[in-house]
Amino acid sequence: LTPNRLQDKVVLVTAGGTQEPLDPVRYIGNRSSGKMGYAIAGMAAQMGAKVTLISTRPELAVPANLAQVIYVRTAAELQGAVASLYNEADVVIMAAAVADFKPAQYVSQKIKKQVGQTDMTLELNRTPDILATLGQEKKKQYLVGFAAETNDLMAHAQVKLTAKQVDLLVANDVSQTDRGFGADQNAVTLLRPNQAPEALPLASKKVIATQILERISTALSSKEE
Ligand code: PMT
Repeated sequence: LTPNRLQDKVVLVTAGGTQEPLDPVRYIGNRSSGKMGYAIAGMAAQMGAKVTLISTRPELAVPANLAQVIYVRTAAELQGAVASLYNEADVVIMAAAVADFKPAQYVSQKIKKQVGQTDMTLELNRTPDILATLGQEKKKQYLVGFAAETNDLMAHAQVKLTAKQVDLLVANDVSQTDRGFGADQNAVTLLRPNQAPEALPLASKKVIATQILERISTALSSKEE
């Protein structure tokens, strides 16, 4: 780790899974623990960046030397927080697992089951694709997306790289227990436009975070030259 590789860069990191409430006691969520995003935020700060962490995980210890932490719950809140900081950011890293659908209606009192009821149908609506919107509005920002896949990892990740107009797509396999969601380790493949894929083998999320940030720092310095 090189301490000043991201000196004074404004870095925005999202972490954790969004929760889309159905009623006061239930929500639609996912298994993201926030560990990958927190590792990236902490390492970026150690490399000299001014880091804002947007997190769905208030119970996690905040890494040292962050500029700011903003807690959100839903995809809409996460979108609002990212949008308010996007213009000032040099690097945006979307490690959060964002819900693609949310309940069509929020019911303000706990939904009760009826006597004899055996089924229930939930209607869901699409949430905004935050990363795709950032890709469309991109100016100077270096934009990083993640792809969490259980099958056909590289094919799905390649589609996301192009469709979301990101500079770097971090593809991770979330079908195994020793990596991805909740694990302390990860193994990822980095996809960049017009570059061969680069595999980063199984290592702690801190090591993976450092490797990702070093690639970003290299890309930023070649842009500045
Ligand atoms: O949190 P951990 O337990 O440490 O696990 C880490 C992780 C597996 C969650 C992380 O490494 C990861 O893969 N995060 C992205 C999960 C995800 O939402 O993947 P996706 O393939 O559904 O989305 C692709 C990209 O678009 C992501 O950067 C996501 O933030 C973004 N997105 C997705 C949907 C949406 N509505 N808006 C978005 O911006």
